[in-house]
Amino acid sequence: MTPAMLLSDTPRQLAARDHLLLHFARNGSPAPLLVLERGEGPFVFDQDGNRYLDALSSLFCAQLGYSYGEEMGQVAASQLNELAFSTVWGAAHPAAIDLSARLAELLPGDLDHVFFTGGGSESVEAAWKLVKTYHNANGEPQRTKAIARDRAYHGVTLGALSFTGVPGYKEPFGAPAIEVAHVSNTNAFRNQRPGEDEDAFCARLLAEIEEAVQREGPETVAMIIAEPVQNAGGCLVPPRGYWPGLRAIADRHGILLVADEVICGFGRLGEWLGVSRYGALPDLVTTAKGITSAYAPMGAVITNDRVAGPLYDDGRTLMHGITFAGHPLCAAIALRNLEIFEREGVLDNVRTLEPHLQARLDELRALPIVGDVRGAGFFWAIELVKDDENTRLDADEREHLLRRYLPGRLLEAGLIARADDRGDAVLHIAPPLISDREILDLLADRLAEVLTDAGSVLPTRRTIA
Ligand SMILES: Cc1ncc(COP(=O)(O)O)c(C=O)c1O
Repeated sequence: MTPAMLLSDTPRQLAARDHLLLHFARNGSPAPLLVLERGEGPFVFDQDGNRYLDALSSLFCAQLGYSYGEEMGQVAASQLNELAFSTVWGAAHPAAIDLSARLAELLPGDLDHVFFTGGGSESVEAAWKLVKTYHNANGEPQRTKAIARDRAYHGVTLGALSFTGVPGYKEPFGAPAIEVAHVSNTNAFRNQRPGEDEDAFCARLLAEIEEAVQREGPETVAMIIAEPVQNAGGCLVPPRGYWPGLRAIADRHGILLVADEVICGFGRLGEWLGVSRYGALPDLVTTAKGITSAYAPMGAVITNDRVAGPLYDDGRTLMHGITFAGHPLCAAIALRNLEIFEREGVLDNVRTLEPHLQARLDELRALPIVGDVRGAGFFWAIELVKDDENTRLDADEREHLLRRYLPGRLLEAGLIARADDRGDAVLHIAPPLISDREILDLLADRLAEVLTDAGSVLPTRRTIA
């Protein structure tokens, strides 16, 4: 079967339509296919030389932008010449050892033990296995359940999919591998009740989690997993006291607390770990994406002395392993990535410019189509609504605006951002962490143009769609 094609398709676009299955995409769509060929600083360029500000950092990965290719290339060449590959299965190599030691130094508390993976979903699944190993070693094999949050995305491989709280991603694939109770997320814009202040909102959310633990049976719950700021649903920041509250619930019931830092880690919120902003120390963190700034694919779970303890018992085998995890090439690049972060003051850049980015995005609230602007660091979402009453867009409007109008209009404005409705309709904004004030201004100016136009196409959607 041949997918739809356009007369203007180049041979490479045609080849893509014939052979390349795009992830999370309508592969039969006749829309022009964006083919990105080159990157420079925070910009990417398509095959016609059009320049786009990558305001999504290639799915929250390109923390350093695209101009470190030469330096990373030298790191890669020298590692490949020295030792192209070796596993971390029962043996080790210098790059993985040095990276694990560096991560232990940089991350807070006793998050000192690193299990490498190939990406975010693998990190989430490995975290589950570490958690289970810990409970089994402590004579509690009955802890087989987890708590996660509605709409949260924790990956789509079959184990990680259990924790993901987006029904449409799960339903086609049958019963989840792991029993997970999903609880409310921290969407204050939609769910904070009139007259309820931040503290009361937080207390209500935590009470719901406590109830879920009681309902499931506290002795059966192995872990609670949450992102510091939840991406799906649109940058759902936690209310004050939420993370210490999660920590307290976990401690009360012998449950392990996992921060999924796949997006929030490595500078997205201006810290090595996003959760550091919210006053709690988890037992495990899952990471990927920014750990290499996407100059190579890698993930890692980092855990504390308590969870790692049983793994050092004489005679115990860690029953998990992934061939390419801790690949020397990726480990060497991750190490250099961390070095560049420090050399270039990347965390400071995010901390210094966060208020400016927030102020510029807040200006968009004046547009009737903008219901909310929320986020932290260089991680923001703009919720799109029908009117000044913040009425939700209906299914037709979301289809028209998010899938047909905005993708093309954003590109026309020279921007890559993501329109998404896994929860309510939002536009995700996450520029590379090396972006300066001028780049952030360019982003905000272009967004203002696009959203002004988007507001005016809504009422006429039926004739345009
Ligand atoms: C919070 C979170 N966890 C896990 C994942 C899965 O990561 P990957 O796509 O690398 O498997 C993602 C991916 O975006 C994520 O955002």
